[in-house]
Amino acid sequence: MISIRNVTKSFGKQVVLKNISLEIKHGETIAVVGPSGVGKSVLLKLITGILQPDSGEIIIYGKNITKAKTEYQKNQIRNNLGVLFQSAALFDSLNIYDNVAFPLNARTNLNQKQIHKRVLRILRNLDIEKYALKTPGEIPMGIRKRAGMARALITEPKLILFDEPNTGLDPLVGQEVYELIKECQEKWHFTGIVISHEIPEVFQVSNRVAMLLNGEILEEGTPEKLLQSQNEAVRQFLNGKTNGPIKIN
Ligand SMILES: Nc1ncnc2c1ncn2[C@@H]1O[C@H](COP(=O)(O)OP(=O)(O)O)[C@@H](O)[C@H]1O
Ligand SMILES: [Mg+2]
Repeated sequence: MISIRNVTKSFGKQVVLKNISLEIKHGETIAVVGPSGVGKSVLLKLITGILQPDSGEIIIYGKNITKAKTEYQKNQIRNNLGVLFQSAALFDSLNIYDNVAFPLNARTNLNQKQIHKRVLRILRNLDIEKYALKTPGEIPMGIRKRAGMARALITEPKLILFDEPNTGLDPLVGQEVYELIKECQEKWHFTGIVISHEIPEVFQVSNRVAMLLNGEILEEGTPEKLLQSQNEAVRQFLNGKTNGPIKIN
């Protein structure tokens, strides 16, 4: 289980997150949605320990990342985490095999034979074995996303974080990414946090949704509940309208 408890984060005078609390149960996927600049990526960076909150704590499967002092302690907790960023963030100079093997080489004591076995298994599982020796630039975006997913899954994390997994993709590839997430949820049963502003598309992979606005969780519940919300700002966001309480800048 993931517990985000009373987390506040400011940059100078700008308060980005104000006393946010959120619990995510094992096996559940929650979508964190909200307009651009609202603090979604900051929240993910707090969960991964890249940023430190001003107050509050984040507990990931019993371990408090906000109290981890050294990179070593943080990495112990990060071994339970997989992250899939917007661009898939593969290393351009490494082939797909080496990209996927990277977290195992960097963060585990597995020997090369064990690593080889694990990498081949996941490449097969995600049906990208034949691209193993290609570099990211040589393969289509949809395959790159699968490779990014393979890299996120390779350490067998309990929690996977997705930061706008399909921003900047054309709609067909975007939908492929959601299909990929669904496929992987069924195979690996991880807990997921998906950051997105794609409403309602993101709902197809979410059990629950939390909408962020002005540093707070404005509304939280099942996708159905959000779709029926009477809150004006929620309705404006869901319907993609320019006029309403949310200021578009
Ligand atoms: N390292 C940082 N230093 C200063 N300001 C930051 C930093 N990271 C994010 N911010 C600010 O925090 C706000 C939220 O950013 P972000 O979480 O990236 O938004 P989004 O919801 O689009 O992911 C933005 O105003 C951004 O400029
Ligand atoms: Mg962001």
